[in-house]
Amino acid sequence: MSRESGRLLVGALLAVGVLVTTGRASAQTELPTAELDPLFKGGKEGHAYTRAMLELGMRMGAATTAALRDDRERARVALKSFREQYAMVSALVPSWKGQFRTSTIDELEGAVAARADLATRRRIVTRIERSCTACHAKYMFPVQARYRWGDFASATVPADKGGSLTFHQLMLDLANNIGAVRGDVEAGQIADAQVAYKLLMERFGTMELLCVNCHDQPRQYFIDSNVKSRLYKVGGLLRRGEKSAAEYTTLFNDVNEMSCMPCHQVHMPAAFQQEFLREAKR
Ligand code: HEC
Ligand code: HEC
Ligand code: HEC
Repeated sequence: MSRESGRLLVGALLAVGVLVTTGRASAQTELPTAELDPLFKGGKEGHAYTRAMLELGMRMGAATTAALRDDRERARVALKSFREQYAMVSALVPSWKGQFRTSTIDELEGAVAARADLATRRRIVTRIERSCTACHAKYMFPVQARYRWGDFASATVPADKGGSLTFHQLMLDLANNIGAVRGDVEAGQIADAQVAYKLLMERFGTMELLCVNCHDQPRQYFIDSNVKSRLYKVGGLLRRGEKSAAEYTTLFNDVNEMSCMPCHQVHMPAAFQQEFLREAKR
């Protein structure tokens, strides 16, 4: 099953969990990577762990729906199948075994067998769903950052003087050059500002080459013509020899607000979760 179709099918089920996860995107978390690594082999799609989870979601949906209907035979069979997958998934990552509790499934089976009223069955179903969400809120994003995002540390381009330029170094260069342009303008050193500007534009152009490390399709935001027009205007002011720093202020602010900051909001949580796990290993 593709990631997308899986998403559609389980989207409603996981809506709550995903929201919580996004909200905590920057909260770095340790992961049992030795146990997880083997379950996430083979590209961005179709990992064993992800597939097992998607299957768990499907079986839970079938089981809880049947349990809430008055169809005991269907519910019995579906709950058995859900329980099997639950046991299989809980054994995949030994460190996380405590997150799975078969006792709640036992309770639901008991309630179905005893023809418990709908409210009672619904309460038990809610407890099962909450146990999924609790773990997702804590671990889903860190797992996706590590295994599904593409690796920021290995996103590199060939450097001018041989070797390679890392994503991180490129970012530091961007920030330093932008700061240098403004500093030079403030000091009235337009020639130096032009040198820094040239480096800035070179680095900005190089950044675009890095997107294809992870994105098959070109992206519209963060490096689009709106952002570039601001950068070109900075170049225009420099060519005119404009020495009033105030003339540049809006342009720099626009670049920050249209490119640097929103792109950081999208990509940094994943990049820094990866960095956090690398640091933990050192
Ligand atoms: C031990 C923690 C844990 C528990 C408990 C857990 N999950 Fe997951 N689940 C994860 C992680 C981590 C992922 C992310 C895997 C990935 O993206 O490759 C995930 C992903 C999923 C996905 C795929 C979602 C997506 O958008 O990619 C589904 C569906 C799912 N889980 C269903 C369930 C259901 C249903 C339960 C409860 C019966 C459950 N999970 C319990 C950790 C857990
Ligand atoms: C190391 C991997 C990586 C690199 C490098 C990277 N991205 Fe992304 N980016 C992602 C992932 C993963 C997502 C979220 C899922 C998705 O959209 O594929 C994302 C999301 C986005 C989004 C928002 C959602 C969307 O898909 O439109 C934009 C816009 C974007 N990236 C633009 C860029 C641009 C522009 C570059 C290069 C300057 C870039 N990215 C470089 C991994 C990367
Ligand atoms: C493609 C999206 C993207 C764009 C556009 C972008 N950045 Fe970044 N930036 C990142 C990511 C991801 C990281 C974290 C990865 C890393 O540093 O290894 C980062 C890291 C940084 C860092 C290092 C932060 C630290 O604590 O180490 C600086 C400084 C920085 N960016 C400055 C800028 C500036 C200035 C701009 C705008 C001119 C910019 N970036 C545009 C994605 C982007």
